[in-house]
Amino acid sequence: MRINGFSKLKIMIVALFMSINLLAQTNFKNLNLMPVPEEMTVVSEKFLLNQSFTISINIDDARLYKAAKRTLDNLAKRTGLLIKDQFPIISKSSKDNSMLINVDKAVELELGIDESYDLIVDETSVRLNAATTFGAIHGLETLEQLLNSDETSYYIQGVQIKDKPRFPWRGLLIDVSRHFMPIEVIKRNLDAMAAVKMNVLHWHLTDDHGFRIECKSLPKLHELGSDGLYYTHEQILDIVDYAADRGIRVVPEFDLPGHATSWLVGYPEFASAPGPYSIERNWGIFNPTFDPTNKETYEFLTVFFKEMSTLFPDKYWHIGGDENNGKQWDTNSKIQEFMVQNKFKNNHALQNYFNIEVEKILSNLDKTMIGWYTDEMPELSKDYIIQAWKGRASLYQTSRNGFRSLLSHGFYIDLVQPTDYHYLNDPIPPDSILDDSVKEKILGGEATMWAEFVGPETIDSRIWPRTAAIAERLWSPSDVNDVQDMYRRLKIVSLQLENLGLTHIKNYEMMLRRLTNNFNVEVLKNFVDVIKPLYTYSRDHPHVFKSYYPLTRVVDVAIPDPKVAREFNQLVDSYLDDAEKDEDKTVVIKKWLKLWKNNHDNLVNIIKVRPVLKEIETLSEDLSKCASIGLEALDFISSNSKANEIWVTASYGTLKMAEIPKGETELAILKSIEKLISVVQ
Ligand code: ACM
Repeated sequence: MRINGFSKLKIMIVALFMSINLLAQTNFKNLNLMPVPEEMTVVSEKFLLNQSFTISINIDDARLYKAAKRTLDNLAKRTGLLIKDQFPIISKSSKDNSMLINVDKAVELELGIDESYDLIVDETSVRLNAATTFGAIHGLETLEQLLNSDETSYYIQGVQIKDKPRFPWRGLLIDVSRHFMPIEVIKRNLDAMAAVKMNVLHWHLTDDHGFRIECKSLPKLHELGSDGLYYTHEQILDIVDYAADRGIRVVPEFDLPGHATSWLVGYPEFASAPGPYSIERNWGIFNPTFDPTNKETYEFLTVFFKEMSTLFPDKYWHIGGDENNGKQWDTNSKIQEFMVQNKFKNNHALQNYFNIEVEKILSNLDKTMIGWYTDEMPELSKDYIIQAWKGRASLYQTSRNGFRSLLSHGFYIDLVQPTDYHYLNDPIPPDSILDDSVKEKILGGEATMWAEFVGPETIDSRIWPRTAAIAERLWSPSDVNDVQDMYRRLKIVSLQLENLGLTHIKNYEMMLRRLTNNFNVEVLKNFVDVIKPLYTYSRDHPHVFKSYYPLTRVVDVAIPDPKVAREFNQLVDSYLDDAEKDEDKTVVIKKWLKLWKNNHDNLVNIIKVRPVLKEIETLSEDLSKCASIGLEALDFISSNSKANEIWVTASYGTLKMAEIPKGETELAILKSIEKLISVVQ
């Protein structure tokens, strides 16, 4: 067929269009953004960043200035460019080579505000448009994630982004009662939350193990209930402001009527059984519970809440309500009598009464109550928000009953589960059959960082980077669920979080150095890179730990979803999927297996002089033995032969022993070894 000039041009245009399109779909898939925006078109242009880059803002808004200044600082830090500090700039138009932020209006930070933004980057300019300050702040975070470089320059990838969150409530709970977290820990975690567009810090301030906030009107609360580890009013106000600067609301939790030991140390007269009480040092569920039949309990709580309401401007207020074991109620004759008089048929009914009384106090302070799901639905106003933690069914049940709800089941990051498990835990999965009216009640969710097994040194490694994947689940459209692409981007985001001051990477190295006394650290690292901490509920079962135990052992260094192990497992899967075995993959798999096979002899020498490592000696030997099995299996595959029965039986036996956790840790590559055995048997 003859192609005329016009057709040739048409083919060229189509080819060009296809290549641009291809670029957008493959090389540029989701770029490095996390969370992925609702709508994004990637163009091949780049906006080159140089030191004359400025940001202009159309409104006078202190929070936005600060956010823009942080972005300039971060861009300067990551590029080494001497970007000039020119704030505040109020301008309706941008100068050459600069960014213009256009915000419709500055609003108060509250649930449900418009958080959308548009970001348009081309060769000549960067334009960020948003309905509110907080949408613009999210847009600035996206801009920072678009920073890239080539041989000659730093640049912002050309894009047209139209973005808004799927859910209005994207939270992280930090438990500061079981282990106290100094202010700098909270601040750096707020920085990280902002980077991935999370918008609620759920601050779990009181529990059996510590009352972590100063109360001037009832000073025995923090004086006797905290071991001296609590936040002052000034510190609380500072955090609330710091969070608001980043578009993050702070919702305090004061857990009641159970989980209340630390309250009752100073004020035992409000308990349901006589004191004295002391701060709890064990993990578990405990008896001390407020007396809901005592009128003075509510007077006490009125004084407390009134003072707290001067510190926390948010409308929402968490009263806990979980895991009241009812033992003190069951054995108190006055409480039992009250229940008979009021026809309360069980403790749930009594707790419901307590909640109704507490809600009255809070509504006088213009606060809306949130509580953990309990097995019996409370008879509260439909304004109440219920946080589902025991199962997904309770999320739907509460929403069907007309309550607004939050999902935390499946987002328990303290349980050290893999990132993809949390990532695919969609509050409203794509195939959901819920009515729209029920779906509307689901506000979003929260990752929960319970602090039995984390301290200031390790908390970041339990929250990040996995929580960035949860942030994406709660922000991005539900069809953004490609696990491999999530892991690709998570690696990049993890480094950006470190750049913001998070310690999840640097403390790994530091803790390894401490364990080996800085002697042959690499050898211990080779081992820890492929182990994971035991599932938390198995780790301390039955409860033996005390709250003052050090969190510096190998299990504390080990990370929940170890990258080396995950990438090795993926490689083995893809190797086994290939009909024709790929030589390059074989080489890499063998390299790892040889490393692990030989590592034990070196690690033993360190263990000899570092008693703290003794507990993982057998697991290190297990790793060595399993790596040998893997190598032998690869030899069978290479020679196209099958293993004999004796080898197969012995190998499965070794694997079984290796599966037993040691030092509260487990090997994370055993499934791959099992697969290698199974293909040669
Ligand atoms: C909870 O995990 N007890 C809410």
